[in-house]
Amino acid sequence: MSTRTTTGSVRKIGRLNRHEFLSGVHDRLRPRSYLEIGVNDGRSLTLSRAKTIAVDPAFKVTSELACDLQLVKATSDDFFARPDPLAWFPRKAPDLSFIDGMHLFEFALRDFINCERNSEPSGVIVLDDMLPRSVHEAARDRYTDAWTGDVYKVAAVLERNRPDLTVVPVDTTPTGVVLVVGLDPTNRTLSERYDEIIAEHVYEDPQLVPDDVLHRKSAADPDAVLRCWVWTAIIERRAAGGPLSADARAALAKLRGTADYTLNPPEPKPWPPPKKKGAKKAAAKKRPKHRIWGL
Ligand SMILES: C[S@@+](CC[C@H](N)C(=O)[O-])C[C@H]1O[C@@H](n2cnc3c(N)ncnc32)[C@H](O)[C@@H]1O
Repeated sequence: MSTRTTTGSVRKIGRLNRHEFLSGVHDRLRPRSYLEIGVNDGRSLTLSRAKTIAVDPAFKVTSELACDLQLVKATSDDFFARPDPLAWFPRKAPDLSFIDGMHLFEFALRDFINCERNSEPSGVIVLDDMLPRSVHEAARDRYTDAWTGDVYKVAAVLERNRPDLTVVPVDTTPTGVVLVVGLDPTNRTLSERYDEIIAEHVYEDPQLVPDDVLHRKSAADPDAVLRCWVWTAIIERRAAGGPLSADARAALAKLRGTADYTLNPPEPKPWPPPKKKGAKKAAAKKRPKHRIWGL
């Protein structure tokens, strides 16, 4: 059974996958401007009807798109280092950003810092692949098909360093997303603490993925998030200007811990992984070679 959303994607009955959830966010938020980091073949980009900037150093778009698009062939770091990166948007700020580029913690953290800095307080940021189902998927050195890398650490870093943000993990299949609202483009805490955060969180595999993440104990049910009145409040704020109300943020935050996932957790697998011949080489081939450090 399925229903069609207004952005055109098919929505199954059951737990939503990341694209179904993102489609729901587009439906509810109706963003005027959308920024996507990490395009690949364009599947998430097909959901946009807004004026869009999409950034990827190695995109290979094969999907039909229906948005007013600036497609940027660059790493996100290079893109944000441009003099006026969001000039394509009339207000120079995205109403919605989707971060799904390089799946290493430090890249995703920089993407978050740069997206927030270029947003308005009513902006919304969604980060993909934030709930790995195993230590294997979370390895920095990729060898699994579904790969989250260690970007899951961004949520904990935001919670610890930016209690002013509302950060909600969402139980989408396969690897979860995190929704962030209550942005403050003037806040410099993360960039000021960047070096110490990296020193603390970047280390060799295996990654120490907390049980809370693996079992999605704080995650919200994606349907409940889409039904929440916070979206109406965000749209009102967008028109009026200024920060999102504490009530609207609390309504969203209250949905943490409503996910089904904990009822049916995955089997734990041992570390180190079994060695498959050629697997590491194949994974290394897939990984882009851009390693650009610093903000
Ligand atoms: C998981 S795919 C994106 C999938 C797409 N968002 C979707 O849901 O259909 C990740 C993409 O990030 C791109 N990428 C890798 N490093 C990047 C970087 N530093 N900046 C921007 N994009 C990057 C890769 O080329 C790859 O196409």
